[in-house]
Amino acid sequence: MWQTGLGLVAAAGAWTSWDLLRPGEARGFGGKVRAIPPESVPDTGVIEVPAARSYLVRIDGEVRALSRKCTHLGCGVPWCESSGQFECPCHGSVFNRAGEFRAGPAPRGMDQHPVEVGVDGLIYIDTGTTEEGPAPGVETIDEPPTGPSCAEESHG
Ligand code: FES
Repeated sequence: MWQTGLGLVAAAGAWTSWDLLRPGEARGFGGKVRAIPPESVPDTGVIEVPAARSYLVRIDGEVRALSRKCTHLGCGVPWCESSGQFECPCHGSVFNRAGEFRAGPAPRGMDQHPVEVGVDGLIYIDTGTTEEGPAPGVETIDEPPTGPSCAEESHG
C-alpha cells in the first residue's frame, strides 16, 4: 500500500515539475495568469480577474491589465459602477477607466501588467512584470464620471 502511495507522490512531483517548466502555461499570481478571450473584453466597463489581482479594460481597441493595487499605499482599488471610475476606499484616490490618475494622494496612475494572447486564444496576464502607471495629469480618454461616486454613496 505504501508503495502505491510513494508512486503517487513521485507522479505528483513529476507532474508539478512538468507543469512549472511548460512555457506559457497559466500559473498563479506572480506568474502568467490565464484569463479570457480578448474578444470578451468589452469596450466599456472593466472585467476583474481576481487570480491576477487585476482588471482587464479595452482602451481604443487595445486590451490592458491594470493592477488593482493602489499606487498610494497598496489597498485594493475597486471599480465603481455608478461613477465609472476606480475609487480607492483607503484615502480616496480616483482613477479613470484607463487607470489614469484623477484625484487623491496616489503618486501616479494604476500600474499595469503586460498581456499576451496564448496559442489557446486566451489572454495571459504577466503578473510577474509590473509597469508603472502614468504620471498625474495624463488623461488619454474622454470618459468623465457617469454618476455619484461610491465613496459618496457609502457615506450617506
Ligand atoms: S491606498 Fe489608495 S489612496 Fe491610499
